[in-house]
Amino acid sequence: MSGGVSGGAAAAPFVIAIDGPAGAGKGTMARRLADHFRLHLLDTGLTYRAVAHRILAEGAALDDEGAAIEAARAVDLSRLDREALSAHAVGEAASRVAVIPAVRRILVDKQRAFARRLPGSVLDGRDIGTVVCPDADVKLYVTASAEVRARRRLAEIEARGGTAEFERILDDIRRRDERDIGRADSPLRPAADAHLLDTSEMDIEAAFLAAKDIVDRVLDARGKA
Ligand code: C5P
Repeated sequence: MSGGVSGGAAAAPFVIAIDGPAGAGKGTMARRLADHFRLHLLDTGLTYRAVAHRILAEGAALDDEGAAIEAARAVDLSRLDREALSAHAVGEAASRVAVIPAVRRILVDKQRAFARRLPGSVLDGRDIGTVVCPDADVKLYVTASAEVRARRRLAEIEARGGTAEFERILDDIRRRDERDIGRADSPLRPAADAHLLDTSEMDIEAAFLAAKDIVDRVLDARGKA
């Protein structure tokens, strides 16, 4: 049976934090874990994408802090439209607004409020285990080599009938990694107590099973399973 998490007497939410670079497979892993353990799911990348999308739609500059703050305040977690926010350019723009500390503070507050929901949540992003939910019950840091991530992205584009150049995708991925790892506020890095999962040699199923195993062990150890 798929294992729901029960709150127990204290009824504290059970939180799984998943961080890692773009294209490492966090999103699919987060969705599968949330389904399996019957937890709420928040892709925090969508919150930064929503800010970028609004700024682009208004024709404002991506470094216009006032516009970005207003856009961050307007983000409604219950109305994040994955389709509308999925464009590559929006992801690129998101990584630019994500360097603005005031934007991060506003979005992190909303993400923390989400993480307080019972019976618990899976949140994926870049700073979940380090900043948003430093007390998460399970922290996973999911990586894969830049080449593998570029190959996966190309396969996704081709599966949707599109075309792209491998080298360009690889350049984009490297640029986004640099921006996410190099920013001063909440850079992408594994929390000290994160489980590292390199999915370079794993398919989606193997990556999910490895993650599920880690969560099962935590639940077993607490007698919550
Ligand atoms: O994960 P996704 O590609 O949708 O994220 C878009 C961008 O949003 C990332 O490149 C990153 O700069 C930013 N982000 C962030 N912190 C998060 C999630 C996403 O800075 N928790």
